Parts: sequence; C-alpha cells; structure tokens
Amino acid sequence: MTGSGIRGLRYAEEVENVDRVFLNDIQPSSASAAHQNAIANNLVSKVDIQCMGANLFLNLHSVPGKRFHIVDLDPYGSPSPYFDSAVRALVNGGMLAATATDMAVLCGVKPRACIRKYGGRPLRCEYSREVALRLLFGSLVTTASKHSMAIEVKFSHSTDHYIRLYAELTRSARSADKNLEEMGYIFHCFNCLKRFTSRDPSEYRRCLGCDNTTTLAGPLFLGKLTDGEFCRRLIDIQESNERLSNRIHKIFLLELEEADSPPTYYTVDSICRRIGRAPPSPSAVVEALKAEGFNATRTHFDGRAFKTDAPSERIETLIKRMA
Ligand SMILES: C[S@@+](CC[C@H](N)C(=O)[O-])C[C@H]1O[C@@H](n2cnc3c(N)ncnc32)[C@H](O)[C@@H]1O
Ligand SMILES: [Zn+2]
Repeated sequence: MTGSGIRGLRYAEEVENVDRVFLNDIQPSSASAAHQNAIANNLVSKVDIQCMGANLFLNLHSVPGKRFHIVDLDPYGSPSPYFDSAVRALVNGGMLAATATDMAVLCGVKPRACIRKYGGRPLRCEYSREVALRLLFGSLVTTASKHSMAIEVKFSHSTDHYIRLYAELTRSARSADKNLEEMGYIFHCFNCLKRFTSRDPSEYRRCLGCDNTTTLAGPLFLGKLTDGEFCRRLIDIQESNERLSNRIHKIFLLELEEADSPPTYYTVDSICRRIGRAPPSPSAVVEALKAEGFNATRTHFDGRAFKTDAPSERIETLIKRMA
C-alpha cells in the first residue's frame, strides 16, 4: 500500500539500521511512481518494489527467512482484512503499524459494517475516537491470538481523519491469553454520562448512577493504548532532532501524560450542556481534579476533553464550583 512510495522511501532514508525496504501496491501506476521516486532519491539499491495484492505479497513473506521486522499497512479504509497475513509475515518480536481511515464505520455511523470489519459494536458518543482505536486493537488481538501470537502495545493515535496503531508481535500462547483477558465492553449512560467497563456483556446493562439503560460498545481492547516508556523514548529522539514538528511533539507529550489513564474521556462541552454552565478550559478542570486527589490528564484525542478516575457527579460538582 505504498502509493507514491513516500513512506517506504522515508523508512529507507531516515531510519537507522534499515537494510532493505519492500514497497508494494496493487496499482501498477503506484508501483511505477514508487520506482521513479526511488530513482529520484537515490534509493534504488535499498528498495524492492512489487505490484500485487497486499495479502498475496504478505503471504509470500510468511515463511522463516522471508519475514519482516516491520509491516506497515496503509490502505484506504480498514486494515483489518490484512491483519492475518501481516502477523504471519512478521518475525518474532516484529512491529506492526496500521492505519484505519474508515472513521464513519469505527465511530458508529455504520455499526453493522463495524461489527463485520472489526468484530465489535461501535459507540456514537463524545469519546467515539477512543472506542475506534480500541476496536482496531481488538480486531488485531483476536486475529493474532488465532496464531498464538500476542501484541504488546507500543503507541497509537487519533489524528485528523484517521487512527493508527503500533504494536510488537510475539509468539506466545500465554501472552495471547493475557491479551484476550484485556478484551471487554464499555457501557455508556447517555442520561448521566457515566461509563463502566467489564468483560461480561451483561454486567452493566443498567446504569449504576441513574438506573437508565446503558449502551454497549465492544468487544474491544480495554488495555493501555500507549506504552509510556516507548513514548518517552520517542520524545527523547524527537528532541535531539533539529527537524522537530511542533504538532507531533504536542501529540507525544499529551500521549505520555495520558498513557496510564483509564478508558474513555469527558468533554467539557458535554458535561456543561447537562449542567447548564459555561464550559471551563479542560486544563483548569484537570488541575481542579488533581487538587481534589483524583488522577486527571488532558488527552490527545480531543482538545476539549480530559481523562479522569473521578466519578461523573464529582466532576459536575467541581465544574459548578468553578463557574
Ligand atoms: C492510503 S494509500 C497509501 C498512501 C501511502 N502509503 C503514503 O504514505 O502516501 C492506499 C494505497 O493502497 C493501495 N491498495 C489498495 N488496496 C490494496 C491491496 N489490496 N493490496 C495492495 N495495495 C492496495 C492503493 O492502490 C493505494 O495506493
Ligand atoms: Zn446514568
């Protein structure tokens, strides 16, 4: 899925210790553009350009000696139809990177398509994009576990019109079982904004706060979406590079901040609409929650949002006091 070849050529040119990069695309015009760009950038000796379907290409590399250290899936729409071939084409300990651009599907506009593609129910709410990322990871966990392969989450993000994940894949039935233990459901109450998580799909069918019926998302991955240590290393590398992008730097810093936060987030707007107050800044809410002894962070998912372990009624009381 190399398109013009730009990303693969950047791996070849910019990443240390890369001997060889394979660029593949189903479109002959893309393979030929990638070839032209490899010539223009003096990278022909480092790249191998192919033109075939991604699953066929990956299957040709799913035998010992032919496997990759990194597979990067960048299709139009969903990468899930390629997960099976991708995990089999990785060396033990290899890294899978994958982008999903079908945000309408993942964020609940087309729930049936989401269940089909990702094996889980989406949720149209203020934290849809986090649910989307958890569905994407969930689909990968389920696929990898069929091969007794486990994922170790390294990094993931939601930016513009897409979401993207990075995970290390290892052959270990026991770790694959542990991954499956992190699969579960999010239950959302549209009445009082409370949310609950459980591995049991029937546990919180009614809200513990207001007894309204909850809406369920999943099965999806409930584990961490980013490894804080890995994120710290990304920041260190980035800060020693003079071509630092402010936008990416900001995403990394927010990801580091929220790495250990619980699932889901609140937006100041959804809470303030409920309580009829003018929304304060998310940073002010985070500081106020911390002062009360709760964990609270901003989140890269949404500039108007924050994550916290405080119960929703405490958040409301606190915001009312701030207004
Ligand atoms: C989002 S673009 C890739 C953009 C590119 N990676 C970049 O960074 O600029 C998706 C590409 O996937 C290719 N593609 C779509 N389906 C494919 C398949 N089944 N196998 C291989 N390539 C495919 C398309 O031809 C298109 O070039
Ligand atoms: Zn409720």
